[in-house]
Order: sequence, then C-alpha cells, then structure tokens
Amino acid sequence: MQLIKENNHKEKEPMASRNKKIKAVIAPKKDLPLDQILQGDCIKLMNALPENSVDVIFADPPYNMQLKGELHRPDNSHVDAVTDKWDQFSSFKAYDDFTREWLNAARRILKPTGTIWVIGSYHNIYRVGSIMQDLGFWTLNDIIWRKTNPMPNFRGTRFTNAHETLLWCNKGENAGKYTFNYDAMKAFNDDIQMRSDWTIPICSGKERLKIDGHKGHSTQKPEALLYRVLLSSTNKGDVVLDPFFGSGTTGAVAKKLGRHFIGLEKETKYIRLASSRIDAIQTLTDEALDIIPAKRAQKRIAFGILLERGLIKAGTELHAPNSKNIAIVRADGSLLCNNQKGSIHQVGAKVQGAASCNGWTYWHTKKSGELIPIDEIRQQIRDDS
Ligand SMILES: C[S@@+](CC[C@H](N)C(=O)[O-])C[C@H]1O[C@@H](n2cnc3c(N)ncnc32)[C@H](O)[C@@H]1O
Repeated sequence: MQLIKENNHKEKEPMASRNKKIKAVIAPKKDLPLDQILQGDCIKLMNALPENSVDVIFADPPYNMQLKGELHRPDNSHVDAVTDKWDQFSSFKAYDDFTREWLNAARRILKPTGTIWVIGSYHNIYRVGSIMQDLGFWTLNDIIWRKTNPMPNFRGTRFTNAHETLLWCNKGENAGKYTFNYDAMKAFNDDIQMRSDWTIPICSGKERLKIDGHKGHSTQKPEALLYRVLLSSTNKGDVVLDPFFGSGTTGAVAKKLGRHFIGLEKETKYIRLASSRIDAIQTLTDEALDIIPAKRAQKRIAFGILLERGLIKAGTELHAPNSKNIAIVRADGSLLCNNQKGSIHQVGAKVQGAASCNGWTYWHTKKSGELIPIDEIRQQIRDDS
C-alpha cells in the first residue's frame, strides 16, 4: 500500500487535498500501549504514538466554562460546579489553539477508517466543531445527549441547560469505510432505527465515583453514554483512545465490551481513580459480545451464487408479497415478470412502478405453501462461509 504522509501540523490543508481518498500504512496493534493509562499532556503523548493506529477516539476535552466565582443554591448551599484548573484558559484564542493542536494530533493517529467522537457543551462545542471542519474532519452526526436529571439553573436567569452535544466525525468525506453497527443499534432500540437524540441520566448514585466522600471527578460521564458510542462505532478487539481520560469511563466500558483502550490523563488522582475502577470491570463473554453484524459490512453475495449452489433453480417461480407478482428465474440469474426483464432489484422496482427495490426482501420462494424471502437463503450462505 502506498504511504501518503499527512502533514498533521498544517492548520489548514487546501479543500481539494482534504477530500482525496486517504491511503495509509496501518500501524500494528503490537506497537500500541494497549489497555494502559499514560500520564502526561495528551498532545505530546499522541504525537509519540504511531500514525494511523487507532480505530476510534472518544474525547471529552475541557469545556472552558469561564465560571466566575462560586455558585450557590437558593438555600445558600454550595454547588459542586466545574471550577477545576484544567478547565481554565486565558482567552478563546488560547482555547482554540489548544483545541487545534490536540485535534491535529488525534487526526494523525486515527486510522483512515476510524472515527472520532468529541463531546461538549454550548461553551465549547461550536468552536470545536468549526476547528474540526477546518482540519478536514467530516461530520457524520451530531448527537444530542438529553439529560433526564440536569442541574437546575439556580439563579433563574436562563433556561435549564439540559443537554450536551457529541460530534461524530470521520477523517474526511472520502475516507475509508468506517464502522457503524446499524443493525445492532436498531436491535438495541426495540427494532426502531436509533435516532440522534439520546435520553440518558447524568452520572449519579452508585456509579458516581467518590474520593473522601466527594465527587471523584467533576465531569464523570455516564457509562450508558459510552456504551452507545462504543457499541455503535467499534467492533470487538478495536482500539479506542481517550485523550482526556478523567475517571476512565471510556476504559471501563471498553473493557466491558471487549475493546482495547488507551487512556491519556495528566492528573495523578484521576489516574488512580480510573485504574481501580477499570480493574474491577469484567469483560462480557464472547457469546454475549457477538452482536448483529452491520449489513453493509457483510460479505457481498450475488443472486447468481444461489443458483450456482442449487439453492434456487433456474425456472423456479419467485413471488412478491401476497403473490401479487410472480417472476421466473432465468439461467443467468435475471428475472422475467409481466414482460419485465432484469436483476431481482430492477424487476422488483419495475413491477411496482417504484424508483428502486431491494429484491432480496421483495422476492420470495414458496415452500410448503409458505413464502420465504430469498434474503434468508442468502443468509444461509453467509452463515456457512
Ligand atoms: C472533561 S474531563 C473528562 C472526564 C471523563 N470523560 C470521565 O468520564 O471521567 C477532562 C479531563 O482531561 C484532563 N486533561 C485536561 N487537559 C489535558 C491534557 N492537555 N492532557 C491530558 N489530560 C488533560 C483533565 O485532567 C480531566 O480529567
């Protein structure tokens, strides 16, 4: 494979080069510090990792909340807000410079087929999103995480801030085929296509980690959120890197789901918290980890293969639902129905007067009076191979 070195330190590549297909040499997993937490500045740490090496990046960067002074409830009790040093930047420019630098470093280590998730609030997500587009990332979705139990607006001066946004992007419009476990997410959602608005409570109760009776980390994310992120965009054995590891939510869920993690974090107290949390996690069994594979990732099987294998014979009748249309299978795998000839998809579309048709689900064989979609016969071949 040809190696095209990306100049990751360039702030803005010309649009034409950003849209070119990305070809790259993929770094082997053995060169990575798998299932470890590395201490230090994430930019330096990412710059030391091999390029094109990680499958997914989940980043929960500083929000740059610009909180002024302490926050109190109406009863004067203190609100545990995000006032940490790591969240403070001297100006928007300083925040933007930092954001551009870590995103550049992240882009270099992400495989061409990889995707990146960045979560943020109104304080930072627009700045982050704009810089991501400038660097060539291509937005696949912006997910709204709607909090069922948000912190109220104590001063009563604004609406309750009840959501955060996750940007899900790949390396460019023409980058490689990324993982999206569409069918698994549909099964997860009671056979209804999963939407881009997710309703999940903020992390509380037993899940909230404590140090000396106080919140162990001010912005610990709920495991349910990472569960959806990793279930939808990674496969068993994939490598997930989190440059702002905090209390290790990404590592905990990655381990549970049989994915590898690499955590980067600068603060010792968070590393300790994350390590003991992850040590206590059990990985699900292989059987439990097998999910419904995404159809687009499945092996392509042409209709002619069903004929070759004798699973459908030339001359057989194929039925539309309710036997409304009946087609004859010809020797080359094309169909003839109501004087229309062509592939299973073309004839299915023509006899319905539709623009397109999925012939695999439209056409059925008849067995003991029962109609069976030909897709089920295709699935037998997939299962056997
Ligand atoms: C928003 S929190 C992440 C919380 C995490 N998602 C969780 O569930 O616990 C950001 C974390 O990034 C760390 N951090 C900030 N700047 C960093 C940097 N330059 N390099 C490494 N870690 C950094 C902070 O110490 C903090 O723990």
